[in-house]
Amino acid sequence: MTALAVVGAGPGLGAAVARRFGREGYDVALVARDQGRLDTLAGELAADGVGARGFAADVRDPRALAAALEAAAAAVGPIEVLQYSPVPHRDFMRPVLATTHTDLIGPVEFSVYGPVAAVQQVLPGMRGLGRGTILFVNGGTAVVPHPERAGTSIAFAAESAYGHLLHDRLAAEGIHVAQLIVPGAIVPGHPRKDPGVLADVLWSLHQDRHGFRHFADDLDS
Ligand SMILES: NC(=O)c1ccc[n+]([C@@H]2O[C@H](COP(=O)([O-])OP(=O)(O)OC[C@H]3O[C@@H](n4cnc5c(N)ncnc54)[C@H](OP(=O)(O)O)[C@@H]3O)[C@@H](O)[C@H]2O)c1
Repeated sequence: MTALAVVGAGPGLGAAVARRFGREGYDVALVARDQGRLDTLAGELAADGVGARGFAADVRDPRALAAALEAAAAAVGPIEVLQYSPVPHRDFMRPVLATTHTDLIGPVEFSVYGPVAAVQQVLPGMRGLGRGTILFVNGGTAVVPHPERAGTSIAFAAESAYGHLLHDRLAAEGIHVAQLIVPGAIVPGHPRKDPGVLADVLWSLHQDRHGFRHFADDLDS
């Protein structure tokens, strides 16, 4: 049995990735804050033949996130693929000089504590399987900081460093860690940034297992 956990599972990229991996036979655990929305999404995926279940948690609460992933593994088996892709909150995106240290609590909880808690929770299961994939999805500010979006720029940089360290440390164990940068917005119908196209890219990152950072489109797009 193979299982994917999407942390930050919504109707856009999260649903598309669930469908893409589901098509390949993966059971899917969906994690986001609202159990009702997750149940609706799981029902839509089931109608398309994808086995999916929702496990509610706020990624800013590391204990709740770990508990959700523990419950997911109990239900669908060890998580072989973890995708961390919750959509960042608007209030993380303030101008740099209007950003106080307390404004950085949310972005750091969201983009650093959350990923670390999720990885620590699923890693023993991946090691038990002898294989695994960890996928981080970020906007372009992870690469080029944006002066009007200080919180995400700063926290995505830290998340990128964590992911890169994991990539180097875990490769020898058969656990591949990759980051997909999506410059600009995800746009349905766009040749490179449609959710389904991005899901295909994430599937190929899982299959090809080369390198840490990948770009969905040109950075200035
Ligand atoms: N949308 C874009 O234009 C865009 C552009 C560049 C990069 N990205 C990247 O793409 C990914 C998101 O894709 P998407 O925008 O299509 O979103 P999506 O997969 O449709 O939904 C993401 C989900 O994240 C959940 N979420 C937000 N805050 C959360 C929290 N604190 N705890 C748990 N879950 C939370 C939300 O569900 P609840 O509200 O129910 O919790 C939301 O439905 C992210 O990695 C983002 O950085 C998006």
